Amino acid sequence: MLNRKIVLLDGRGTGDEDLSPVLDIIMNELEVSGAAAQLFPLREIKMGSCIGCFGCWLKTPGICLEPDAGRDMAQAVVQSDLTILFTPVTFGGYSSEIKKSQDRWLPLILPDFGIYHGEVHHLPRYSQYPRLVGIGIQRQPNKEEANLFKMLVGRNALNFYAPTYAAEVVLSTDAPDRIRQQIQAVLVRNDNFPLSQTIRELLPTTEMAKVHPPIERVPGRALLLVGSPKVKSPSTSAVLGGYVLNQLKQRGWETESLTLRGNLLKEHGLAEFCTAIDRTNLILLVFPLYIDSLPFLVMKSLEVMAEHFSNCSEKNPKRLFALANNGFPEAYQNALALAICQRFAIDTNMIWLGGLAMGAGEALFGGLPIEGTERAGRPPVKHIMQALDVASAALGNGQIVPPEATKLMAKTPIPFMPFRLWQWLFIKMANQHWRPLAAANQVGEQELFAQPYAEVEK
Ligand SMILES: Cc1cc2nc3c(=O)[nH]c(=O)nc-3n(C[C@H](O)[C@H](O)[C@H](O)COP(=O)(O)O)c2cc1C
Repeated sequence: MLNRKIVLLDGRGTGDEDLSPVLDIIMNELEVSGAAAQLFPLREIKMGSCIGCFGCWLKTPGICLEPDAGRDMAQAVVQSDLTILFTPVTFGGYSSEIKKSQDRWLPLILPDFGIYHGEVHHLPRYSQYPRLVGIGIQRQPNKEEANLFKMLVGRNALNFYAPTYAAEVVLSTDAPDRIRQQIQAVLVRNDNFPLSQTIRELLPTTEMAKVHPPIERVPGRALLLVGSPKVKSPSTSAVLGGYVLNQLKQRGWETESLTLRGNLLKEHGLAEFCTAIDRTNLILLVFPLYIDSLPFLVMKSLEVMAEHFSNCSEKNPKRLFALANNGFPEAYQNALALAICQRFAIDTNMIWLGGLAMGAGEALFGGLPIEGTERAGRPPVKHIMQALDVASAALGNGQIVPPEATKLMAKTPIPFMPFRLWQWLFIKMANQHWRPLAAANQVGEQELFAQPYAEVEK
């Protein structure tokens, strides 16, 4: 490891001080191998969270518009040979501290799309990216969550063109020698990339539909939590979530809606958030996929809810439904994020009513209403409405969302078009979509490919 540039993102939050001995072991191992790591103790670093404005592609290509530590961290990551993510395993995902900084990696890739391992991904902005190593910690063993964590690191490695990656989950209560061995192994091991089939298998199956009993009291009260952080334009999350909420309202449910951005970033908003959670029977969590997982604010909301539930003695478990949408056309790319929501439900004794995944969120909706003339020129979304209708009917009866809704959501929007052709058309359309938007900001085609953090010699 001599002469290699290493970046270590320490994603421990307040209250995770007990995990310090594991970090000490990692730092010690790196030192022994002659490498010096640049450590980012994220919870101590003042950093804004991504607002999903795409300015890092269309206004200042390759650089986030927010001039804070998030920029330095992204630069350090892409200029490193090895980036290590160190985090408590949080419902199978990363801590919100890691997510806040990782969502700011978007400028490191190009807006344009291409096919990579048979699925759509953004094209690389740089010719080289670091190896990725994820080291998660659990206080109690949980195999399912450890597996999700490892998959997530692998999916990030694919999205960010890591030449190699490895992921390990260690138990904080294990003997230091055992932990040391696991760290030594993960630092040099290469794991297999989790390709589409592995992720697809996480989507709900017919079996799931049989698992949960119906809710005792319907109609009840439903709370929509909009997890998109967008402030400059309407979000697809709000459009899809609003549609489901309205359907529940028509079925006699009392309804309420909050944005996580409005509530979790302000002190008084947090109290309002917890009160709204307390008075609801059913939570509808809607969010965009950010870096293969839940955006920072959504991870934060799960952490806040888990903490809140652990402090109250509520007997009736709440129901949770999640609806994710992503940029790539493959709906299944949301499956890991939905699996994390499911793990959250299990860990907090909620009742999981299932998740729905929609691909090509920007292309199909881009925040536009489901119906109306504004949609002219966009692919049809009748199948999405049908899926949401099926889901809303089940949720309205307190039942788990049937797999039929999942299938409808994942359909190719253009009838009879094979999915491969839709991928190709999507890439062509989407790559054309960015240019006029950049031109409106006086950013020319060549500037879109800027490499502000490229080093002459690596
Ligand atoms: C920081 C960031 C990370 C993203 N990461 C992914 C990703 O990993 N996979 C994907 O398919 N789309 C990704 N997207 C695209 C969003 O999921 C997509 O634009 C979505 O439709 C936005 O939904 P919203 O309008 O509800 O915010 C990302 C977008 C942003 C801003």
